[in-house]
Amino acid sequence: MKKILTIAVLAAALLTSAASAQEQAALKKVYNEEINPLEQIDQALAQARAEGKFVICQVGGNWCPWCLRFADFITNDSAISSVIEQNFVYIHVNYHPRKATEWSSAMMQRLGNPERFGFPVFVVLDEQGNVLHIQDSSFLEEGKGYNQEKVLRFFQNWTPKAISEANKNTPLIQSTIMDNDILKALRERRSIRQYKSEQISDEELQAVLEAGTYAPTAMGRQDPWIVAVQDPDIIAQLVRMNADVLGMDGNPYYDAPTIVLVFGSRPGKWGNAVYDGSLVLGNMMNAAHAFGLGSCWILREREMFDNEEGQALMRKFGLPEGLMGIGAIALGYPAAAPQQPKARKEGYSRIVK
Ligand SMILES: Cc1cc2nc3c(=O)[nH]c(=O)nc-3n(C[C@H](O)[C@H](O)[C@H](O)COP(=O)(O)O)c2cc1C
Repeated sequence: MKKILTIAVLAAALLTSAASAQEQAALKKVYNEEINPLEQIDQALAQARAEGKFVICQVGGNWCPWCLRFADFITNDSAISSVIEQNFVYIHVNYHPRKATEWSSAMMQRLGNPERFGFPVFVVLDEQGNVLHIQDSSFLEEGKGYNQEKVLRFFQNWTPKAISEANKNTPLIQSTIMDNDILKALRERRSIRQYKSEQISDEELQAVLEAGTYAPTAMGRQDPWIVAVQDPDIIAQLVRMNADVLGMDGNPYYDAPTIVLVFGSRPGKWGNAVYDGSLVLGNMMNAAHAFGLGSCWILREREMFDNEEGQALMRKFGLPEGLMGIGAIALGYPAAAPQQPKARKEGYSRIVK
């Protein structure tokens, strides 16, 4: 019986892979495997400058069924193809993760090393060639294809007009002299409220924690204490404690696989704990974003740890007495694209000379 089942499973797998090979063969091969992609990008940029458009690089290859499926999908959807036509120079940039060409590494570096998002991956370039956005295509999928509404929204959100609207209160963004990777990460970090269940690597976690420890602290006292929790039982306890304060049933940490808590001295001992801890949390969120992790500040740790259960947990963490909860971040691989940021409010900053 077992043998029959195994054969049936194998046959089903073979049929499925034959069907997908058939589908792939039927789809148009849109990637030119001979062309130098750096020249291809340069040509697209020159055209974009002449036509007042941005460039979208759909990075992938003829080896990737999802890449060909996407190309087919957007060609056959008139609403999407018209947004592309009006706003972008759209190119298919050939890349194979296991078959490097002489151009692969320079090309990927130029596009912000987007391979971590899988394939196809979309890189939006402004007319100067700056990487404005890297789009993980898995957020646009639905079943065995793509969701029209999500794809359309992605393209509409990155048109030259959408970017200039979003930036109209933030002139520095348009000025390249003040731009660099750090400013870009600060600007582009957004709160993430959906996470993959896969745990982040220890290396990534260490990098986030280290960024926290380099936040400025009043008098350089390094008052905050940071506790990263990945133990599922303790996470479940934190979820319950936070939800209790909130008076709800759900998961206020959005199912993130890691929760990073920040504690600081109680007011009688040190009056700057909330300022210090907030900067630690901010540093960690920005660092997380800088290498592709998602995070979100989650409140209510003050109340959660201000009772016997919270104090017992702090002792379990090995923290000294006399601390209070300041805040926490949910941390993990993003499972959904964040919302576009609101335009910055009028008069947010001013200069008095
Ligand atoms: C002090 C503070 C507390 C926050 N508490 C929560 C929270 O409990 N839950 C949540 O989903 N987001 C929380 N946030 C995230 C904000 O809602 C978010 O930063 C804001 O809407 C702006 O969006 P952005 O982070 O994507 O720019 C908090 C942010 C701060 C600074």
